[in-house]
Amino acid sequence: MQDLESLVTHALGEVAACATLAQLDEARVRWLGKKGALTEQLKSLGALPAAERPAAGQRINEVKERLQAAIEARRAGLTRAEIERELAGRIDVTLPGRGERRGGLHPVTQARLRIETLFRRAGFDVATGPEIEDDFHNFEALNFPPNHPARAMHDTFYFPDGRLLRTHTSPVQIRAMLSQGAPIAVVAPGRVYRCDSDMTHSPMFHQLEGLKVGESVSFANMKAVLHGFLQAFFERDLAMRLRPSYFPFTEPSAEVDMSCVFCEGKGCRTCKHTGWLEIAGCGMVHPNVLMASGVDAERYTGYAFGMGIDRLAMLRYGVNDLRLFFESDLRFLEQFRTL
Ligand code: PHE
Repeated sequence: MQDLESLVTHALGEVAACATLAQLDEARVRWLGKKGALTEQLKSLGALPAAERPAAGQRINEVKERLQAAIEARRAGLTRAEIERELAGRIDVTLPGRGERRGGLHPVTQARLRIETLFRRAGFDVATGPEIEDDFHNFEALNFPPNHPARAMHDTFYFPDGRLLRTHTSPVQIRAMLSQGAPIAVVAPGRVYRCDSDMTHSPMFHQLEGLKVGESVSFANMKAVLHGFLQAFFERDLAMRLRPSYFPFTEPSAEVDMSCVFCEGKGCRTCKHTGWLEIAGCGMVHPNVLMASGVDAERYTGYAFGMGIDRLAMLRYGVNDLRLFFESDLRFLEQFRTL
């Protein structure tokens, strides 16, 4: 029993001296393992006289428990110390994470925001409408009668139930007038869809609709607003002209051209050597459209225009293939990062 006392003092000393979890585990095996010193003591009980065995066994078990408790306490202490060392030496929780590269706005989004800002300054609100439309808003209320040939020009994507993907942002004119009435001044940017795809056409593209209705709103007002917008958007003096055109929902209708931003009107590939770039459609809102939208066509007049946001972005940023905008290629997009 004297033996047991010195054994335990020795063991506790070793446990206290362990500097790592690995050392501690070695010590545990040495003392309490299958062939450990204390286990050997238990085995030797058989050699004692029967009367002494219970007391001796009890003492050995007490010692075993004390040693186990000491090992657990040491393990907890070493674990905490190890975590603290790691935090102090290697982990700086104030460092930014890795691989968090900052994104940027898509060039088409940048162009849209810029266009919205310019029209807001000119007194227009921004309106929106759904991309899945019905025949009424996309065609009928816009003065396309059933079987009107202009419907065929739109290459419409139809759903089985007769609804469709809007082919232009003009249906937002109808929705805005039905909900706000007149007078009204809104621009409506958004995605539109046509079954068409090549260098300059994508089945999904972006338009911006403009609508201004009020008492004595004139064609001359429209011309001034559009010319002012183009000069502000391209940040330069440029010429604009209107060519007669046709849309069912405007009368009279016109095509808007501006002098080519690449050759200043001298003629180049982009403007097909005409010196002019076609940039928008416009006209005075047809009385049938005002009436279909619940606006008094005797009292009010208005103008509307529709322009391609992607096309404006291409011209401003010098991009020659529309499809580049929709391929999500970071090598292309990163060139437009401004932040
Ligand atoms: N919605 C016409 C188009 O997509 C553009 C337009 C809008 C023309 C408004 C006149 C007035 O081609």
